[in-house]
Amino acid sequence: MKQPYTISALITGGASGLGLATARHIIELGGCVTLLDVNKNIGNQISKQLGEKTLFIETDVTSEAAVDAALLRATNTFGKINLALNCAGVAPSERVLSKTGLMSTSSFARTIAINLISTFCVCRAAVNVMQHNEPDTEGQRGIIINTASIAAYDGQIGQAAYAASKGGIASMTLPLAREFSRLGIRVVTIAPGLFKTPLFDTLPPNATEALTANIPFPKRAGDPHEFAQLVLHIYHNTMLNGETIRLDGALRM
Ligand SMILES: NC(=O)c1ccc[n+]([C@@H]2O[C@H](COP(=O)([O-])OP(=O)(O)OC[C@H]3O[C@@H](n4cnc5c(N)ncnc54)[C@H](O)[C@@H]3O)[C@@H](O)[C@H]2O)c1
Repeated sequence: MKQPYTISALITGGASGLGLATARHIIELGGCVTLLDVNKNIGNQISKQLGEKTLFIETDVTSEAAVDAALLRATNTFGKINLALNCAGVAPSERVLSKTGLMSTSSFARTIAINLISTFCVCRAAVNVMQHNEPDTEGQRGIIINTASIAAYDGQIGQAAYAASKGGIASMTLPLAREFSRLGIRVVTIAPGLFKTPLFDTLPPNATEALTANIPFPKRAGDPHEFAQLVLHIYHNTMLNGETIRLDGALRM
């Protein structure tokens, strides 16, 4: 028997990679999706492709006012948001002391702002709208899923800012889950290893070959659909809460 899906998801970074794969999966399953991204051209194209159950809102997730407005618009369009997925992110690599000079603190802060502070900003706005959802039979009103990285535990040279931003996402998962539990809102984080997305494709071929060779099994980069499948599993499995789940083929970098 077909399961009745009533997912209304909001996905940041939804115009590309992991966020887009999840949006496609949710639409295939009969849900609706609001995509937030800074990439207006691709966002509009994708929303046309995915059809009427998709809304694209050009949003820079580092702006609290823009995120709050997007959450309100999404809720008014689809009636509710019961899944918020944070995928917007950047992965710069920069040594603190390189041949070209000293890394600036503002460069560090920019990565923290896009990856970590905006994730908090979306959690804040999501819980504000989700608190008004009708609870299900278990009292659940919504699920927030954040995207960290295995760099949260295993950061490489050049990843001080990226690893710190992802470590922050992993660290705030439990306190947020504890706080939102009285509202029936779960918070779970996924820490992906290597996934074949446009972000991954920015790495030089010799770097991607070397990285995939280190993955114990399977010896390949993840398919974004495998990330989407985990999002859907978390959505359906009410016992998953307050945890960061590695999705990495046992890769330790
Ligand atoms: N691909 C991987 O191997 C991998 C591994 C570990 C973690 N991650 C994390 O997964 C998330 C998604 O990565 P991806 O591989 O799909 O990357 P991607 O580059 O394909 O997608 C990221 C999206 O975020 C958007 N974005 C960037 N800054 C934004 C902002 N300020 N406001 C709104 N949107 C913004 C981009 O326009 C882009 O569409 C990121 O947080 C990344 O750090 C990816």
